[in-house]
Amino acid sequence: MKPIKVGLLGLGTVGTGVVRIVEGHQTDLQSQVGSPIVIEKVLVQNISKVRAVSINPAKLTEDAWEVIHNPEIDVIVEVMGGIETTKRYILEALARGKHVVTANKDLMALHGPEILAAAHENGCDVLYEASVAGGIPIIRTLIEGFSSDRITKIMGIVNGTTNYILTKMSKEGAAYGDVLKEAQELGYAEADPTSDVEGLDAARKMTILATLGFRANVALEDVDVKGISAITREDILYAKRLGYEVKLLGIAERQDDYISVSVQPTMVKLSHPIAAVNGVYNAVYVYGEAVGETMFYGPGAGELPTATSVVADLVAVVKNLKLGVNGKQELIAYKEKKLKTDEQIASKYFMLLHVADRAGVLARITQAFAEHEVSLESVLQQPNPSNPEAEIIIITHDANKAAAKRVLKSLEAMDVVKTIKSVYRVEG
Ligand code: NAP
Ligand code: HSE
Repeated sequence: MKPIKVGLLGLGTVGTGVVRIVEGHQTDLQSQVGSPIVIEKVLVQNISKVRAVSINPAKLTEDAWEVIHNPEIDVIVEVMGGIETTKRYILEALARGKHVVTANKDLMALHGPEILAAAHENGCDVLYEASVAGGIPIIRTLIEGFSSDRITKIMGIVNGTTNYILTKMSKEGAAYGDVLKEAQELGYAEADPTSDVEGLDAARKMTILATLGFRANVALEDVDVKGISAITREDILYAKRLGYEVKLLGIAERQDDYISVSVQPTMVKLSHPIAAVNGVYNAVYVYGEAVGETMFYGPGAGELPTATSVVADLVAVVKNLKLGVNGKQELIAYKEKKLKTDEQIASKYFMLLHVADRAGVLARITQAFAEHEVSLESVLQQPNPSNPEAEIIIITHDANKAAAKRVLKSLEAMDVVKTIKSVYRVEG
């Protein structure tokens, strides 16, 4: 029963959780893999920092090569974050035949194909379950659980910070800026919260999910991204009155061989299960041609939930080691990527317009939709006591994105349309 030796890169939030789980669950882990799992060496930035978990100081180092070049170490667990330096460390570890487990969505979204190809060449595993939706085992589910099906849609709340903000705005009427500050204080947001609120963090996660779900290498540039910073309390109020919640959704869709991926604030009908996902929780809804609707729900971040996924990957690597099958998996992205054009992307839209309150205005507006062949599901006009203009709320039937853009251009050009206050995709 030779111990399996692990080199840990990073001892922050997730690294601390990894140490706690490896030590706290050692007996169970050993029973599953047949060997003790030992954290042999730990890379940190500042060796003098007080640590949240007790660790033999002799194991800590500020020299990455002491971990990566250590011949005793079988598996590198990367939970330090960052992109370029981290990529160099991982490629070097793979070149030396070490398996890698990482929680790094930034790295996998940007350099996943190169890293997975290097792993394949070197007969090594690279597993990255914690990189998307922290504690939800969605990556293994897409690779293995859905291997017999053909996925047509993946829809996810994959950023806890923005879901926390939107939930507080919806349930408590809180203002965007105040809740963002709260989310930062609670440690949900990234060091720079711009990547959370502007949708980049979710876009990186959707890049990974779409690649796995559609078996084609989706790149970050393929994702159409819009964040939540422009959402107002008024939008949320209207959504609620009409029976919707506003959620930042990652949406990846496939029709025949053509795919689209986006991250955008979306009005989700209250009857859809994803509308009920609140706070920092994440959820991923997956539609398979054969299975139909499925949904996976859980904590998207945090020390122990994220570390659970990291250590599960570690267990998988060690099981593969015992079976001698590391690096033997076929590359998942075997299909050619074909992106949909705007003419091929269909959805319902919500539009809130402030318009002149006089005869014939509604007719001119609905005419613009008719001209561009966008059919309307509902139109609601009402006066606003604090606004001399009338408000028109329109929900369309499924319309292609190009036609919706043409309608908006026509509306912008009309003198009777004072402001296009908001435009949202509608789901459910
Ligand atoms: P963190 O708390 O900031 O910890 C980072 C750790 O890495 C620290 O121990 C730091 O050392 C060390 N480190 C950073 N850069 C280094 C460098 N250049 N050289 C040596 N050591 C370095 O980060 P985290 O929240 O644990 O996140 C780690 C990774 O997990 C990231 O990729 C993140 O996106 C991913 N992730 C995090 C969560 C979450 O809930 N936090 C969820 C899912 C995925 P010092 O301690 O000495 O500063
Ligand atoms: N900032 C991220 C979030 C952390 O809010 O979901 C987990 O990736």
